[in-house]
Amino acid sequence: MKGIILAGGTGTRLHPITRAVSKQLLPIYDKPMIFYPLSTLMLSGLREILLITTPHDQDAFFRLLGDGSQLGVKISYVVQDQPNGLAEALILGEKFLDGEKCALILGDNLFYGPGLGTHLQENTGVEGALIFAYQVSDPSAYGVVDFDEQGNVLSIEEKPKEPKSNYAVPGIYFYDERASDFARHLVPSARGELEITALNNAYLERNELRVEVLSRATTWLDTGTHESLYEAGGLIRTLQHRTGMRIGDVEQIARDQGWI
Ligand code: G1P
Repeated sequence: MKGIILAGGTGTRLHPITRAVSKQLLPIYDKPMIFYPLSTLMLSGLREILLITTPHDQDAFFRLLGDGSQLGVKISYVVQDQPNGLAEALILGEKFLDGEKCALILGDNLFYGPGLGTHLQENTGVEGALIFAYQVSDPSAYGVVDFDEQGNVLSIEEKPKEPKSNYAVPGIYFYDERASDFARHLVPSARGELEITALNNAYLERNELRVEVLSRATTWLDTGTHESLYEAGGLIRTLQHRTGMRIGDVEQIARDQGWI
């Protein structure tokens, strides 16, 4: 399995900050945001990573991460010219994936939880697609998954005005070898984007989508607004001070994995 981090987009909800700086390079307490999703992929054991950025931000990401060799990983770069949607990452990444399975993570999603890395690692052989569900108080800003009483998935809807459940879909997705092919056949949504929810629905229609509810012990934050950015920084600061452990420290993870 290979990893893709999608760090494109214009970050309009964070204007004026993101007029000059990529959202995914903004600090979450003491590290750039991108370190956190990168660390999640590294904890999943993935060492071949594609970073998708806007054309004008690519240099800055390269200055930060280079080819990844200092972390014992291999980072390649591709640009997304326009914010055409998250599922476009699978099309832009097709050559990089070269027929392999893929973990796609969004550059502004932050995961933290005991055993998360091990758990993700157990799923790198995914058949079909594996996505996650996480209980939030206001799911309407996310993909929302609805289950029946047996836990079967009934629907996934993108940013529904009237969500059918409180289960949001976090920005980490595991796909088998067919994801790029399915993505190429998606129809853009009303807002003109290739929605990741449409790709997940393509797997769901074939009965090949597994949705796992993330335990309460896992923290999932997305950091796309001033409020959530500030909260995420505060949380990382509090956890690091309290425990003395570091979160999203990519060098430490590379060392722990024995890669450097
Ligand atoms: C995207 C996806 C949404 C998902 C969310 C997770 O939304 O479209 O399905 O729940 O990421 O962060 P965005 O935040 O890009 O609007």
